[in-house]
Amino acid sequence: MRHLVDITDLTPAEREALLDLGEEMLRHPGDFADAARGRILATLFFEPSTRTRLSFESAMQSLGGGTLGFAEASSSSAAKGEGVADTVRVAGCYADLIAMRHPKEGAALMGALYAPVPVINAGDGGHCHPTQTLTDLLTIRRELGRVDGLTVGLCGDLKYGRTVHSLVNALAAYRDVRLVFISPEELRIPAYMKEGVLRRMSYAETDSLADALPGLDLLYMTRIQRERFADPEEYLRLRDSFLLTPELLRPAGEHMAVLHPLPRVGEISAAVDGDPRAAYFRQARCGRFVRMALIHTLLSGALGPAPARDLREHPGRVCPNPVCITHAEREPRRLFLEEGGACRCAYCEAEA
Ligand code: NCD
Repeated sequence: MRHLVDITDLTPAEREALLDLGEEMLRHPGDFADAARGRILATLFFEPSTRTRLSFESAMQSLGGGTLGFAEASSSSAAKGEGVADTVRVAGCYADLIAMRHPKEGAALMGALYAPVPVINAGDGGHCHPTQTLTDLLTIRRELGRVDGLTVGLCGDLKYGRTVHSLVNALAAYRDVRLVFISPEELRIPAYMKEGVLRRMSYAETDSLADALPGLDLLYMTRIQRERFADPEEYLRLRDSFLLTPELLRPAGEHMAVLHPLPRVGEISAAVDGDPRAAYFRQARCGRFVRMALIHTLLSGALGPAPARDLREHPGRVCPNPVCITHAEREPRRLFLEEGGACRCAYCEAEA
């Protein structure tokens, strides 16, 4: 059984096939109106969401299927202390597929280990958000016609921004993509990514959006992730780090696209919305069709075996990341990945 926990769970061929299907569904949604008739999607959202949850529900309903679920942890048995492993085992009795969002890093892998049905990661803390990445890739294809060869600026909260982490992991599989990370010093891309996927990529880091803009094909703006800060003062100091305005955009390329996973909370001026390069609401629309493609593909069992991952169990070893799901679950399986001399927590990727 296949899950989508991390964007790299998909082979490049599977990812491109999903994007092709998403494009076809966007053009001819009526052709798929019965594709999931009689099937049920559970949306288990332990953390706030607008686009992701609504687009999953819209996607399933557009395929003729049904949905059930909850939109906040307080209305689920998580409020009574139930762990993810039990919640997904139970949800899998009532649904054919689970889309899950959780504030703890690695929660989606925990779900996938125990659920009797496919689990889709709809965001696990500051870690990953693979379906946003599929949305981003479909948008990039539609706006720019290709992904290979692009220079991509990622701006804002690169430390806690899970959409950034998943997008970088996906872009690594394309040819000649150059990355420009634009953030304050405190919110730079995590070390585990520099020591991992970024070793294979060409990238630069800066704190100046104005300096970076003229060389970009794509600008991916993100919100400073208030809910992930341990120190509220630090959030207040950093929250206004960037503001994209029409003036700032002037020297940028005529065909550059501006993406943002949304919600925006002050990093893109409303005056930019009318600029033809502002693609973020078109991006939100893509999310529905790419999720239709994903649901249809997972339910039809069309994917082959998952790419092999060498997970090792070390019962005595504890993940050092305080927001890892293993600290929230009662008896977690302590799983690790060992690669190139490094040992990482299999759930949240922290060095262990
Ligand atoms: C993002 C998320 O939840 O990570 N939103 C989304 O899914 N479209 C980005 C964010 O919350 O900043």
